[in-house]
Order: sequence, then C-alpha cells, then structure tokens
Amino acid sequence: MAVAVRGSRGGGSAGFNAGLRSLFSYRILVSAMFTLLFLATLSVLLTTHRPTSPYYSSLPSSGNAYVQRTFLALNSDPLKTRLDLIYKQASDHMTLVNAYAAYARKLKLDISRQLRMFDDLAKNFSDVTSKPNYKSSLFESEGAVDEDVLRQFEKEVKEKVKIARLMVAESKESYDNQIKIQKLKDTIFAVNELLIKARKNGAFASLISAKSIPKSLHCLAMRLVEERISHPEKYREEEPKPEFEDPSLYHYAIFSDNVIAVSVVVRSVVKNAEEPWKHVFHVVTDRMNVAAMKVWFRMRPVEGGAHIEVKTVEDFSFLNSSYVPVLRQLENLKLQKFYFQNQAENATKDTSNIKFRNPKYLSMLNHLRFYLPEMYPKLHKILFLDDDVVVQKDLTGLWRIDLDGKVNGAVETCFGSFHRFAQYFNFSHPLIKERFNPKACAWAYGMNIFDLDAWRREKCTEQYHYWQSLNEDRSLWKLGTLPPGLIAFYSTTKSLDKSWHVLGLGYNPSISMDEINKAAVIHYNGNMKPWLDIAMNQYKNLWTKYVDNDMEFVQMCNFGL
Ligand SMILES: *[C@@H]1O[C@H](CO)[C@@H](O)[C@H](O)[C@H]1NC(C)=O
Ligand SMILES: *[C@@H]1O[C@H](CO)[C@@H](O)[C@H](O)[C@H]1NC(C)=O
Ligand SMILES: *[C@@H]1O[C@H](CO)[C@@H](O)[C@H](O)[C@H]1NC(C)=O
Ligand SMILES: *[C@@H]1O[C@H](CO)[C@@H](O)[C@H](O)[C@H]1NC(C)=O
Repeated sequence: MAVAVRGSRGGGSAGFNAGLRSLFSYRILVSAMFTLLFLATLSVLLTTHRPTSPYYSSLPSSGNAYVQRTFLALNSDPLKTRLDLIYKQASDHMTLVNAYAAYARKLKLDISRQLRMFDDLAKNFSDVTSKPNYKSSLFESEGAVDEDVLRQFEKEVKEKVKIARLMVAESKESYDNQIKIQKLKDTIFAVNELLIKARKNGAFASLISAKSIPKSLHCLAMRLVEERISHPEKYREEEPKPEFEDPSLYHYAIFSDNVIAVSVVVRSVVKNAEEPWKHVFHVVTDRMNVAAMKVWFRMRPVEGGAHIEVKTVEDFSFLNSSYVPVLRQLENLKLQKFYFQNQAENATKDTSNIKFRNPKYLSMLNHLRFYLPEMYPKLHKILFLDDDVVVQKDLTGLWRIDLDGKVNGAVETCFGSFHRFAQYFNFSHPLIKERFNPKACAWAYGMNIFDLDAWRREKCTEQYHYWQSLNEDRSLWKLGTLPPGLIAFYSTTKSLDKSWHVLGLGYNPSISMDEINKAAVIHYNGNMKPWLDIAMNQYKNLWTKYVDNDMEFVQMCNFGL
C-alpha cells in the first residue's frame, strides 16, 4: 500500500539526527508545498459541493443539494452511486493529505523557485477541478448523471489522486522523520519536568530516542484512513439512530482526537455496564481524525448492543466565531501569533512557557464541553468523560444521584491550601476579587454528570461566554478549561463521593491501590499518559487491559502493549 506509514522500529538518535538534517531538504520542501497546494485546489472542488448531511463527510464548507440527492438516489441509479464513490475517494484523499499537510504547516518554508513551480501546478489543478461542465452536469443538475461526463470526471480525479499518492509515498520517509520529531516534541512538552532533570543528567539524548508510542497513534490513524480508502463501499455513512436522542438512555460525551484512547474509554464502560444496550456514546473529534474514528468503530463495533455516534466539531454549525468567544479569540491575529510562533527551534528550549503557548489550550475540541445543552438538545443528563480515563464499574448510579438542582456533579480536589480558586485565578484583578472566594474549593473535569435542564435554566454557557470574553488578554487566568469551568459552575456544582473519580494516575506515583481498585473511574490526568512510553508501570495495566488487541491495526502499529 503506497501511502502506508512506515512501521519503523529503527528510531534511535541516529534517526533523529537524520530527521533534523532532512528538515529543510529539497524533498520535504517540494512535497510540503505540493501537499498544501493540492489541498487548496482540491478544496476548490470539494467546498462547492458539500454534503448537507452532517453524517456524510468531514469536509469543511457550506451545504449543497448534491449529496442529499445522492442519498435518495443511492439504490436506484448506479451512476450516482459511482459518482458518490468517486466524490468520497477524493474527499478521503483530502483527509489523508490533510494529515500530512498539518505537519507540513509546521515547517517554515521559504518562498523559492520551487514554490513558483508548484504554484503553476496548482493553477493547473484548479483549472481542472472547477470546470463548469462538471458543476452543471454532475452536481447541480437534477436529472440523470451524464455517463461520459462522469467518466471524464472520474479519470481526472483518479489522476489527481494518483499524483497525490505518489507524492505522499515519496515524501513519506522525510515526513515520518518530521512527524517523529513533532511527536517527540509533544511528548517532551508533556514531560518537561522530566526533561529538565534528564538534561541535567545528560540523559536528554536517550529520552529523545525512546521509541515513541505517539508514532503508533499516528500509524493507527493512517491505517484506518487507508482502510476506508481501500474499501469505500464498506464505509458508507449510516443514518443517525433514534437512540442518540432518547433521554431515557445513559448518554456519554467524549471529545477527543485519540482513537485508541476513546476506544479504551468506551470498551471499559461497556465491559462494566450491567445493561450495555442502554448506553449511548457521543464521540466528537476533529476533522483530521474523524475518518479514522468512524472506521475504527465500524471495524470494531461497540459490544453489548451499546450505541455510538461519531461527529466532528464542524458538524455543530452553531459553533461559529460570532457565537463562540474562543473561536473569535483564535481568529484574533495577535493571539494566533502568540500561540503559533516560536514553535520550531525554540520549542525544546522554552519548556517553562510552552504550556501557555500550546494551541491545544484554546482548541475548540477542548471547549466543546461548554456547549453540551445545545449539542444535545433532547437530553436531560449527560456524563462527560475525558479520553484519559478508564471506567471500572457500572456507572448508572451517577444518573440517579440527586444533584439538588445543581448543574455539575464532580469530585472536589482541594486539600489544605491546594486546588483552591486562589491558585487558578488572578485575585489582583478587581472583577475576580469581587465575585469569587479565593478559598473556594476546585473540582475536577474528567468525569462530570451534568444536568442539562438545570444548565439551561442557570444559563451557565452565558456565564462562560461572559468570562471567557473578558479573559482575551489572559489577565484573569492563564490556561485551560478548568478555570472557566470553575467560574461557569461556581455555585452550581455538587460534590460527589471521591470513589466515583480517582485522579492523578498520570503524575502521582503513590496513589493507594486500594483507592484505585475501589474507584468507579480512574483518571490518568497529568503528563504520563498510559499510551506513552513514560506511563507509570504500576498503573499502565489498568488501561492496557481494555485495549482491543485483536484489532489488526493495533498489532501492526507496534503499540507493544
Ligand atoms: C501547467 O499547464 C501548462 C499548460 O497546460 C503546462 O505547460 C505546464 O507545464 C503545467 N505546469 C505544471 C507544473 O504541470
Ligand atoms: C452563528 O451561529 C448563531 C447561532 O449560534 C446564528 O444565529 C448566527 O447566524 C451564526 N452566524 C454566522 C455568521 O453564521
Ligand atoms: C528563539 O530564541 C532566540 C533567543 O531567545 C530568538 O532570538 C529567536 O528569534 C527565537 N526563534 C523563534 C523562531 O522565535
Ligand atoms: C492581574 O490583574 C491585574 C489587574 O488587572 C493586572 O494588572 C495583572 O497584570 C494581572 N496579572 C496577570 C499575571 O495577568
């Protein structure tokens, strides 16, 4: 398979150095430019013909009648089925190319002769893809599909796809190196305390060269996308099930871009549920991972008759920048610079400040948790789970807890002077000082039972909007979703028994095993995630026992669990 990500085991520091050397090599420059331009031009084709069904595709853009018509006609007109498949093939390749492009964007590329050359090629692409006769006879006509035009369109798409695959295959190796470096950097950010120590001890190189599990995550996502590309007929979109909106069932919200982590959360819930068929999982992921996520759950359906819905952030079209302060803030150029500059060479040096600059802390996927009532308008309650938790008991008791009219059921985390509001907010700021008690106890995200009706009544989202907008200059709090959460549910949080949610498995080596064994949910918050090499051994097995080892791609991608 041409675009398979190399299942390399050859890491080591030699590989890392070679990767650095190739960073700005001709090949990667050329392929990165190509990828970006191909993406841009392909999107000319695709954005004008976006399916209206949110279940259809992950492509960004606005609606169009074409796919809806295709759905209706799917069984009656074989030509339309074919058109549907070609279209899908194009969009799947865009997903794949998008994955590579995301890394290409992180490279600093100089304007050069190569750029002009590929500019030229891009123009040629866009000339083909925006041909008026395709528009009129394939996408905008209500009548039958003209077979000759379709054949021509297919031929041209296939040519583009072929070039795309060639380019991806050719640049694969340099990309792998680049990806490896990026993923290692991510790991390094995650363990910056360790890093500082390691550097002092001269162990820096061995930390860098540690074979990285994040590469396995990348491999897994790529394999899943390839699977869909190879068997488009197996991965048609499915209709939403009535269970997704049935308030009498147990609903979960899991927002993540990590396929294996989500699968562990879901499997652990289902395996411990007394009546798994009454559980409904709402997974939301980003555009880059949605195809992989969908293929995973198609290949490995949830057991016990539980239900799963996979969507992207973009499917919730009410989340636009005029409504959502975080999106508005991301669009703010100054802020964007602050978050995205300084990522390349200073990244490994500047470990103290890196958390504040990580765009993750502003990403929409993280802030989705503030929109649960609007995302699931038919539901009364929902359990919010982080992707770094493992469920060890039947959780239905959470839905029966009387929240006393409160919105958020959560475990509190304060002890002594720790984890109190003073630690999270700037109490020198008059607005904070007059509104909040610095000694108020913080609670944890990761396992929260939300009463959505109470949320709507208490207008918690409005609270969040008000304060998140005020914090554009980050003078109220620095990072993350916990501080705005603490504010949004300030007087509307009900403290739950601690055995519901035991925290710290990602940083605290001395949690008692007794406490862990009694916990309904254990949470690997902290840097040492169970899917990373640096996971703590004593807790790792509690997670790995829910990894689906029979899944061929898990074996293929060397998770080595
Ligand atoms: C673009 O098309 C023109 C004319 O069709 C051709 O001369 C040129 O070589 C093409 N450019 C690239 C980079 O393929
Ligand atoms: C943004 O979404 C809101 C609903 O949340 C809608 O009323 C508004 O028209 C949208 N604005 C744009 C520019 O799409
Ligand atoms: C990296 O840091 C150095 C010194 O602090 C600075 O001069 C340089 O501009 C920084 N590079 C980037 C890309 O920000
Ligand atoms: C805290 O708020 C005060 C008053 O607005 C402000 O002057 C100060 O810069 C803020 N501190 C931080 C760290 O943002």
